[in-house]
Amino acid sequence: MTSTLDPAEVPEFPMPRAQGCPFDPPPALRALQEEPLTRVRLWDGSTPWLVTRYADQRAVLGDRRVSADMTHPTYPRQAPGNATLSFIGMDDPEHSRLRRMIGSAFMVKRVEAMRPAVQQIVDDAVDALLAGPTPVDLVEAFALPVPSLVICDLLDVPYADHDFFQDNSKTMINRNSTPEERAAASGALAEYLGKLVAAKIQAPGDDLLSGLGERVKAGELTHREATEMAVLLLIAGHETTANMIALSTAALLRTPDQLALLRDSENPRVATTAVDEMLRYLNITHGGRRRVALEDIEVAGQVVRAGEGLILPNDIANRDSDVFPDPDRIDVTREARNHLAFGFGVHQCLGQPLARLELEIVYRTLYRRIPGLRLAIDFEDIRFKHDGFVYGVYELPVAW
Ligand code: HEM
Repeated sequence: MTSTLDPAEVPEFPMPRAQGCPFDPPPALRALQEEPLTRVRLWDGSTPWLVTRYADQRAVLGDRRVSADMTHPTYPRQAPGNATLSFIGMDDPEHSRLRRMIGSAFMVKRVEAMRPAVQQIVDDAVDALLAGPTPVDLVEAFALPVPSLVICDLLDVPYADHDFFQDNSKTMINRNSTPEERAAASGALAEYLGKLVAAKIQAPGDDLLSGLGERVKAGELTHREATEMAVLLLIAGHETTANMIALSTAALLRTPDQLALLRDSENPRVATTAVDEMLRYLNITHGGRRRVALEDIEVAGQVVRAGEGLILPNDIANRDSDVFPDPDRIDVTREARNHLAFGFGVHQCLGQPLARLELEIVYRTLYRRIPGLRLAIDFEDIRFKHDGFVYGVYELPVAW
């Protein structure tokens, strides 16, 4: 940070984001996009750089001279006491040592083998919707259970405990939680998953937690590392996809021509392109990627000094008209696989093949089996998660 910089003159990073269309980046953030690199002020008065353009964001995320270490003193934190979550907040070689241990479970081929099981989970959830009363909250009755059941299957975590792990995850990712509340929630999840890992060491199965248990037994991983990875997977595995399912349904109900195209098209690729288009158009990780420069680096023709923080909001990158023509329009047939919703570089989302599979099956199934799906409240009354680290809707009351 330069000594002449007066933080009071630096615009605040627009969070929470209760302005403008709830599917768009906030107007205040888009206004900052006029500059490729600009300063923003955070809750603690720090003034990291905001990288606004798609090409520059990719360059920074692919640069080994930037760190994702959330314990770094100048890491641009989203909130006070924001705890690290296993290897997502670490640098190589530690990051890749841990990531490699579970990488094979998320390879496209392995995930594709889960297709029949995921389809069954989605079919059962739609059966339950159709058998139940309306209006119904799609978040509670569908969007949250589907990915929770899938990640429970993969990890072999008992789904019966879903209230416990969903409630603690919610506390961890709520911006309004105090640091103490967040620490208590993460401690409760760690204790719970730590016990499950210990049980798997005694009696292994062919699930992912047992795989971690084997590594602990072999001395390749400490019990604590295994537990932290399990917490990361359980949270990342259900919260993100659940919010994408509900938020994209809200957006598609608002864009009936695109919903009709997705629902009625004979072309099987449309569900696949729709997944990437909705990931591009929406943004559930609306705090942006956060990094710290470890050396002086050049970004958009300017020098970012070692120790300075960087924020890379993928929502504005994914609306960069240099890369995505007419970026504010949903086009479910657009080829948008190069979006940054899963990040980029060494930390690019490990679970993306699974997230894609779940979203694709939901898009192929839900709207076809319930063609009359509609909002049961006024659009204006939907409560959006402006206060979350993960964006979405709190409830989505629907009928048909
Ligand atoms: C639509 C759903 C999802 C979205 C939008 C999403 C988004 C992201 C993003 C943006 C990152 C990069 C973070 C960074 O660079 O700082 C990430 C990392 C990660 N995600 Fe996802 N994710 C989703 C689903 C999942 C699922 C289903 C899983 C696991 C079952 C998962 C596991 C992970 C893990 C383990 C990392 C850390 C990777 C690393 O640091 O090497 N995610 N995700």
